[in-house]
Amino acid sequence: MTLPSSPFISRILGCGSYLPERLVTNQELAETVDTSDEWIVERSGIRQRHMAAEGENTSDLATAAARKAMAHAGVTADDLDLIIVATTTPDSTFPATATKVQAALGVSRGAAFDVQAVCSGFVYALATADNFLRAGQHKTALVIGAETFTRILDWEDRGTCVLFGDGAGAVILSAEPKASGSPSVSESYQQRGILSSHLHADGRGHDLLYVDGGPSSTGTVGKVRMQGREVFRHAVTNLAGVVKEALDANGLQASDLDWIVPHQANKRILDGTARKLKIAPEKVVVTVERHANTSAASVPLALDEAVRDGRIQPGHLVLMEAMGGGLTWGACLVRW
Ligand code: UT7
Repeated sequence: MTLPSSPFISRILGCGSYLPERLVTNQELAETVDTSDEWIVERSGIRQRHMAAEGENTSDLATAAARKAMAHAGVTADDLDLIIVATTTPDSTFPATATKVQAALGVSRGAAFDVQAVCSGFVYALATADNFLRAGQHKTALVIGAETFTRILDWEDRGTCVLFGDGAGAVILSAEPKASGSPSVSESYQQRGILSSHLHADGRGHDLLYVDGGPSSTGTVGKVRMQGREVFRHAVTNLAGVVKEALDANGLQASDLDWIVPHQANKRILDGTARKLKIAPEKVVVTVERHANTSAASVPLALDEAVRDGRIQPGHLVLMEAMGGGLTWGACLVRW
């Protein structure tokens, strides 16, 4: 939620992304998995996914995206005092992937840690950084969503292995003084920056989407397990709910949004949510057909694409939303 008393607002100064070179098409998967291009496209909209090379780790993807975001924002390593990486596929159980990114970028001050909220991870990390910045505790944050999700897939489970891909996206946030006075809710949404964020979790949904391993339970990494149809049902309801919550908190209508940048899990979820909210399909940024579901990386990958191709312009109202394992879900409204 918004903290009206804060003298700061978190501005997004720039963004960047990185996709591993290797492309895997549906046809290629169909050579080893009992599936078809037709089924995958019809049920999910996915046509291809990127896959990290052997030896290419989440921190490598994250660092590559971070460098592009820093160049876009015009900041250097010396400016950064907070690094948050949202990931479900860290290089190691510990230390945090964020500390590896920090070292790779040559940053040695401030805080660096990971956030784990699976596919909602980037929205959770953005909200976390925003709160640190608005509290005045940090000045310039690097927020990354990065995954090598293909490493935790069971390649014999066709219900999951065709749906995911690897990638990373990043943004740079800066704590900027708010316009003087204390603007009303309707005035405050004219300011550029993060207007509000809204996070939710319901741990009763654990069995719908989880990994069947872990350092404390089995001592293994585990593989993704999902009850796809059930997750699908929750996704449309929860995402439409949290988007409405973000709009209501800012006194806005769905028609006020310029862009919606959703988590890219399934084209049918994107269409269903937009329909439920009466949002025109042209306002929805869609990358799922080319990236598949990259978990925490999907929102910043889509955001970066829409910023770089000129769709998202300064002053636009942009709503990011995501839902994932936990269950977790959330939304973040930004005046770009
Ligand atoms: O990012 C976190 C959030 N994750 C999601 O939002 C994912 C949400 N769920 C989904 O996107 C969809 O539920 C899926 C794409 C995972 C599945 O689509 P569905 O229309 O819900 O299919 P289903 O799971 O109900 O399966 C329908 C049929 C089954 O066959 P039977 O039992 O009807 O004979 C499956 O065995 O499709 C079969 N099937 C496949 N067939 C070919 C499942 N996976 C495949 C496959 N290729 N890869």
